[in-house]
Amino acid sequence: MLSYGRQSIDKKDINTVIEVLRSNWLTQGPKVIEFENSLSRFTQARYCVAVANGTAALHLAALALGLKPGDEAITTPLTFVATANCIRYCGATVKFADINPTTGLIDTDEIKKHLTPKTKVLIPVHYAGQSCDMATITSLAKKHHLFVIEDAAHALGSKYQGKMVGSCSFSDLTSFSFHPVKTITTGEGGAITTNSYSLYKKLLLLRTHGITNNPQDFVTKSFKKYPWYYEMQTLGFNYRLSDIHAALGLSQMKKLPKFIKRRHEIVSLYRKLFAGDGRFQLIKELSNSKATFHLCPLLIDFSKVSLTKRELFKKLLQKGIKLQVHYLPIHLQPYYQTFGYKLGDFPQSERFYNQVISLPLYYGLTDTQVSSIVTHIKKIIS
Ligand SMILES: Cc1ncc(COP(=O)(O)O)c(C=O)c1O
Repeated sequence: MLSYGRQSIDKKDINTVIEVLRSNWLTQGPKVIEFENSLSRFTQARYCVAVANGTAALHLAALALGLKPGDEAITTPLTFVATANCIRYCGATVKFADINPTTGLIDTDEIKKHLTPKTKVLIPVHYAGQSCDMATITSLAKKHHLFVIEDAAHALGSKYQGKMVGSCSFSDLTSFSFHPVKTITTGEGGAITTNSYSLYKKLLLLRTHGITNNPQDFVTKSFKKYPWYYEMQTLGFNYRLSDIHAALGLSQMKKLPKFIKRRHEIVSLYRKLFAGDGRFQLIKELSNSKATFHLCPLLIDFSKVSLTKRELFKKLLQKGIKLQVHYLPIHLQPYYQTFGYKLGDFPQSERFYNQVISLPLYYGLTDTQVSSIVTHIKKIIS
């Protein structure tokens, strides 16, 4: 069965994990720090904090910026629910801004329409791996005194205006996910990058119950001399990544250049094979960004073809091809409808959802498989 995404694990990955299992440190050991260093070197951010998953990364990013009840944060409806949920975890209000229909990225003119005096954070999502218009988003943030979190769950290895996504050249914080369908995996895992020392220190505290065991940071100075003392300074979580996961991440990082190269090749092949056929459209590639595509979204105007998306899914499944849809717009989820959102609120996202399917895209996918997927789709739709 070909699915839209899957991990690529080799012997080196397996041996690296086994080594950790034989070591003294299964968690809170050296592999986590090595993995963080590898990510900050790669993204060119000053600091990196590895966490249990991408959702935890978003949650801690929002908390570190002080998002709280009464505040509003703006994101896109065309994302995984985690992006909006992190706002709710902080008790703040989720505001959505519609997308650009050709890229699936948040539309900066739409962001402007939803700004209020309560807006505190903007959370653009680099959908499919392509960077949002960060120059405009930063200038909006500066003008209105807002913070910016880049949700880069899809975009490890992508560049914007020549800068690595995750370098935080255009944001306060960037979050990543290392779920198995992502460009590298740790099984479950995530990370936050930043250039701010004070945000970095907050993230470290929040990741581990709000506890510090660094005597330099103790509020209660008289306890400094007790070697067993640790201090809980704020309400945090256990969002730590284990050394087992981090070791897998480190091993995967070594293969990241070849993972990126292969993803580019596959997307180029899809582009070539669908080119010139008006029934199909891949998302527009922007000149100011070099995406490492996590998804390869294909847009099909089903009102102009003879079958429905459901029928296409069913027929492809019979051929051993399991597609996915990214995403059902979040405002249509029953939970978000309890806040008054309804069908018709974000027409571009809804139209995009109706048209989009995610084609298989992962390192191990061969050119022959790509050609066969395209042939099947064209045949079924003819
Ligand atoms: C855009 C986006 N943000 C956040 C997440 C959450 O990441 P995780 O599954 O690692 O919690 C995902 C996961 O798929 C995602 O696609």
